[in-house]
Amino acid sequence: MPTNLYGPNDNFDLETSHVLPALIRKFHLAKLASAGDWHAIESDEAQYGEIPEEFMESLIAITQANGHPVPSDRLILNPLILNPAIQLWGTGSPRREFLHVDDLADACVHLIDLGDGIFTKMINENGRPIVNIGCGKDLTIKELAGIAAEVVGYRGDTQWDHSKPDGTPRKLLDIGRLLQLGWKPRIALQQGMKETYSHYQRRVNSSQLKEVSDQAHTANKVIAITTPRGSRKSPEQRVALITGITGQDGAYLAELLIEKGYTVHGIKRRASLFNTQRVDHLYQDPHQEDRRFILHYGDLTDATNLIRIIQETQPDEIYNLAAQSHVKVSFESAEYTANADALGTLRILEAVRILGLEKKTRFYQASTSELYGKVREVPQSERTPFYPRSPYGVAKLYGYWITVNYREAYNLFACNGILFNHESPIRGETFVTRKITRAAARIALGLQRDLYLGNLDALRDWGHAKDFVRAQWLILQQESPDDYVIATGEQHSVREFCDLAFAELGIELEWKGKGVSEQGIIAGIHPSPLLEKYSKQCRQSALQPGQVLVQVDPNYFRPAEVETLLGDPSKANRKLDWQPQITFNELVREMVTYDVHEAMRDAICKRNGFDVPASCEIHM
Ligand code: NAP
Ligand code: GDD
Repeated sequence: MPTNLYGPNDNFDLETSHVLPALIRKFHLAKLASAGDWHAIESDEAQYGEIPEEFMESLIAITQANGHPVPSDRLILNPLILNPAIQLWGTGSPRREFLHVDDLADACVHLIDLGDGIFTKMINENGRPIVNIGCGKDLTIKELAGIAAEVVGYRGDTQWDHSKPDGTPRKLLDIGRLLQLGWKPRIALQQGMKETYSHYQRRVNSSQLKEVSDQAHTANKVIAITTPRGSRKSPEQRVALITGITGQDGAYLAELLIEKGYTVHGIKRRASLFNTQRVDHLYQDPHQEDRRFILHYGDLTDATNLIRIIQETQPDEIYNLAAQSHVKVSFESAEYTANADALGTLRILEAVRILGLEKKTRFYQASTSELYGKVREVPQSERTPFYPRSPYGVAKLYGYWITVNYREAYNLFACNGILFNHESPIRGETFVTRKITRAAARIALGLQRDLYLGNLDALRDWGHAKDFVRAQWLILQQESPDDYVIATGEQHSVREFCDLAFAELGIELEWKGKGVSEQGIIAGIHPSPLLEKYSKQCRQSALQPGQVLVQVDPNYFRPAEVETLLGDPSKANRKLDWQPQITFNELVREMVTYDVHEAMRDAICKRNGFDVPASCEIHM
């Protein structure tokens, strides 16, 4: 094996470690110093060992060069004589080969599985059944430092300290025999380093968590943190199972996991029409070898079917996204909602247990801000008491607690993501945001006259589904299982959403009247770059100021309403390093753009004499 194996759990001590972990830690500390984050530097020191004095001086200089204060007990020298750059050892010119430990383990298992015959043949041929395990590629230490800086996100200066020895100029194994025996490395260096760095950060975060976790939650958390779990496979070797893969989140999550190299299995319900539009772009012909996207028929109300699928797929991660997810519909189909959303969660957790997968399989439960319902405090965090206001919310409450219970009772890696509303161009058409963007586009193109809504005053914390599925994945990548609020921390009303969506199409709304008599009326028509881009002949010009476009229909009121939701995502920001990247305005623009595109198709058909019936669901 090569001298430079690396991976999670490496030794990151700055005096005694190998070059790769040393570079990761040096750049990480330098990044913290650039941001003036000495609290984090101290946590790092507590976790990974003392920072040598010489290196500490560079950190002080970097902190001050970036205009941040340095804690007084660290000010050991006159900062003016310090050099604000990271010192790396030697000239950077030696070449080395790096192999991820998981690849090494995988190669060993591969060789063991080959059977004696292969090795007897080798002995007969040249006397020694020895196989070099390596990746077959090397690079200079300078190139390695470039990758490490990029992975860590350090953008400051580095200097090479030529007084330190370079060592052997080159170390590279000939892996010809290994290749002949049918094994090749799977983990690219940059990917392996990213994973090693995430692991590195998680250990610091979890030691911080130990320090600050409050008394109420301490008992369970400490058990979870100190329970060692086996090292994880690289993403390329992992198998995920997504329930609800044909839904909004399922589609975005499947895309994300496939991009990371996972093999993704999804459960879809049998329907009398095609229902896979959201994932059709990921489809792979069943006759293709090495498929990474596979669908299975199934239903959350069918336990035996779930057990069979989980047994067949042996997932490393299960994302339980399937649900009857419409709050208003849950008042009409309350029992079914409980069966799918509450008992469905239990069925999957039980399947994991029945199949003895407690140690292997991590479980994500799609919990929801609807748990807060009649909110007890603003904003809502992981500690806010729950008060659900619909059969959907109550069913999801069961799903939340059964997930916590299986974590505590059976030591399952089971987590809740308490997600606030998240939308996208592929959001279901009967949720209010998509109902609005779709109607706005169709009204602008002359396909629809007006829009009926329910509670215009409802306030929601709306984010983009793409950002939110990234959080779902991150939740399952942590050292220990936990529950997280995922939200943007920003709130808007349904009325405000309408204003923005119509404004994208050059339609300025004003609101007149109160309660059920309130109306959204055209106050002005302005040029719309979006419409002009798609169609010069659009019907926007047929709209007139004073025309009523939005009205209230009490049928859309809920028997018990959730008036306001606003999330506090600080735990996710801190522990998952998660921040939403798409703003509210960008979300609305993306949705309207998509719906204009969709409406154009109908408009063109209609103009050319084809029948374009409205969906029965247009008034849901
Ligand atoms: P969605 O678009 O409504 O997707 C729901 C998925 O579940 C669909 O694939 C649906 O299949 C499937 N499904 C429904 N009943 C099923 C059953 N009995 N068996 C198997 N599959 C079933 O929902 P989403 O917006 O992606 O949300 C994903 C999850 O997050 C849901 O659990 C939802 O409750 C939760 N959540 C969503 C939000 C949000 O704002 N989007 C916020 C918090 C939590 P069909 O395609 O066949 O209908
Ligand atoms: N659907 C809908 N249709 N909602 C309307 C309408 C309308 O015509 N008019 C006003 N609203 C109000 C609803 O009363 C609610 O207060 C708000 O708009 C948002 O409604 P939805 O978009 O249907 O979403 P939701 O907040 O009830 O539920 C969604 O978010 C939850 C997380 O908070 C769903 O995705 C749930 O599955 C998810 O758990």
